Amino acid sequence: MKKIAEINDIPKNGSKLVMVDDTPIALFNFNGKIHAWDNRCPHRGASLADGIISENIIQCKLHLWEFDVKKACAVANYNLKVETFTVEIKDGSVFIDV
Ligand code: FES
Repeated sequence: MKKIAEINDIPKNGSKLVMVDDTPIALFNFNGKIHAWDNRCPHRGASLADGIISENIIQCKLHLWEFDVKKACAVANYNLKVETFTVEIKDGSVFIDV
């Protein structure tokens, strides 16, 4: 596991973008639960960290595709997955499995 952020750096119901090696990773804080996704939208690669975050949905700003946070896939097509990383929180720090 690799430390990539402090939990306090991720606004509640907001996001933070971090680079891990050459991979952009979007961290989302949904009511205190942290999710780590590959930041690149599976459609055309826009930044999901800049997306519109609402309850259980992240909407890409470029072409408005919606992604289900719990399932990490497109709402309109569950076969269209977003790459995710396992998250661990320890002493206020965020670690992911890279
Ligand atoms: S790049 Fe995200 S919906 Fe098109």
